[in-house]
Amino acid sequence: MVIVLLGPPGAGKGTQCKRIIEKYRLAHLSSGDILRSERAGGTELGKKARQYMDSGKLVPDRLIIEMMVGAIASAGGNCVLDGFPRTVVQAAELDKELAEKGKKVDAVVNLVIDDNVVAGRITGRKSCPVCGAVYHIDTLKPKAEGWCDKCKGRKLVQRPDDKPDVVKMRLKTYHEQTAAVVGYYADNGQEIFNIDADRPIDDVTARIFEKLDSLITAR
Ligand code: AP5
Repeated sequence: MVIVLLGPPGAGKGTQCKRIIEKYRLAHLSSGDILRSERAGGTELGKKARQYMDSGKLVPDRLIIEMMVGAIASAGGNCVLDGFPRTVVQAAELDKELAEKGKKVDAVVNLVIDDNVVAGRITGRKSCPVCGAVYHIDTLKPKAEGWCDKCKGRKLVQRPDDKPDVVKMRLKTYHEQTAAVVGYYADNGQEIFNIDADRPIDDVTARIFEKLDSLITAR
């Protein structure tokens, strides 16, 4: 099964993906996490991606498509895609790659939320540099303030692209380039589950599970 999770920066894609993969036993393929790991490893891709990520712009399609096609193949095609596709070109290429393997996107989950809400979420986000666990200073606090619950003794950090001016640019980029991906799927007859993401985390999860359960039952 291939699930695409769409939504603006800070909508809760990463948070919800961690829950989806546990319930449905899928691989979590986050383009942002993969890019951050490439950067941490000092790879050529990581070096190329840096300038785009730190300024809130999209990494060029050809780099992302190659990276994600490889990741999907390694996951055996059963995955939740978080942050990919982010342009219509990426969405069309994903469809093409999946069709060549006799597969398709099974569900598109679109987290719908206002820019003002996500801006507050992102600036309060803290994450673990080791395991990638995500917290929030108000809504999802770790047990010991500032430290990861799982990787004991690891201090939580703020992502470099979570500074207010970069967040502003990421939201602009989302509206100019990524919002159109929802229209691409609608035009292609793909069922889209629009989920109100301005709700408590557990409520959003419950709504997503309800939709995915109904999809699985209907198959
Ligand atoms: P990426 O890492 O994908 O960032 P993003 O899409 O901007 O998404 P975020 O990780 O900021 O937010 P999220 O929706 O996962 O929210 P989260 O669950 O953490 O991309 C980074 C960069 O990489 C891009 O800018 C681009 O340069 C590049 N890139 C990546 N993919 C690319 C692609 N396909 N093409 C080109 N370039 C690409 O939640 C946020 C906070 O809110 C957390 O603190 C969380 O605890 C809290 N929270 C979550 N849900 C709730 C809730 N319901 N109520 C209250 N708080 C909540």
